Amino acid sequence: MTTTITDNSPQNLQKAAELLQKGEIVALPTETVYGLACNALDPNAVAKVFAAKSRPQDNPLIVHVSGLSMARDCGLEIPPLAETLAQRFWSGPLTMLFKKNNGVVQKIPAVISRGLDTVAVRVPANETFMKIITRCGFPIAAPSANLSGSPSPTSAEHVYSDLNGKIPLIIDGGRCEIGIESTVIALNNNNIRILRPGAVTPEMLSEFAEVTVDDIVYHKAEKHSLETSSVPSPGTAYKHYSPKAEVIAVKTQSEQAFNDYVNRNGESYSIANPQADTLFAKFREFDQSGAERIYVNLPEPTGIGLALYNRIIRAAEFNIICL
Ligand code: TXA
Ligand code: MG
Repeated sequence: MTTTITDNSPQNLQKAAELLQKGEIVALPTETVYGLACNALDPNAVAKVFAAKSRPQDNPLIVHVSGLSMARDCGLEIPPLAETLAQRFWSGPLTMLFKKNNGVVQKIPAVISRGLDTVAVRVPANETFMKIITRCGFPIAAPSANLSGSPSPTSAEHVYSDLNGKIPLIIDGGRCEIGIESTVIALNNNNIRILRPGAVTPEMLSEFAEVTVDDIVYHKAEKHSLETSSVPSPGTAYKHYSPKAEVIAVKTQSEQAFNDYVNRNGESYSIANPQADTLFAKFREFDQSGAERIYVNLPEPTGIGLALYNRIIRAAEFNIICL
């Protein structure tokens, strides 16, 4: 299959919408990272997404909708707290888990949620993506458009380098402004549980309810078992976001201490001041330059720093040096 990269002109958006309507898969920009989109209501299209990414079968997908009413139409239960959060944070990088409504016909096929009783939903803050949802009229499932395990793509070129030959079309919307995947939360009465941190931070959410950051954000999933499905967010159990080079996370008191350490070790590849909008791009760039090892200074796990901390320790496979 030939993979074409095109700009987001109305004709090209029409072409993307037609492909999605026919059950094909297309890479689209979002404000977080590029997504590999398909019709969320079409199990065959969903299967193509899993195949193109070589995604583990038990890792469920996020469904992108135009708003709460589309989520309701899919047969999902929207608690009052979700309405409040949607009003404040949508469209934007916040994914909420909604329970499948028992009394209602389920439109979201089981292949999306992989046996769980919830579906992850968000409204992306990207005009191109929203235009495609409007044109199609159906919800769009989209995981990050990378090969499973590699850093999420923040440009059309990143998508091409992972999925060339496996998908027909990439819509180029330029660089993703945020550069790191959405915050994933579960709602329970008046508690918000963060399963994956992102640009919507615990501090921002705590204005609306009590916030718990799940253990999985800081630690390996080992103590959970996939079989007993006690892992709250299946994707967090896998090796993730990793460049080909070995990543070493370094905990220091200061940037100076980090730089001294890197210099002493004679390393050429390091990130002293990790930023959400460039972290994944730097991993890919260093791989292309032939890096064998990348040292990354761990930020304080507060604000957006928590999301960076979470991605870096996973890329490092929990190999953390404390100075
Ligand atoms: O910013 C984003 O969220 C991007 C863009 C494309 O929207 N998408 C993204 O999708 O990062 P993906 O598939 O790479 O990550 C989805 C995460 C995974 O960790 C998955 O396990 C979790 O969300 N997830 C999906 N459905 C879930 C569910 N029902 N319960 C718990 N976790 C779920
Ligand atoms: Mg992903």
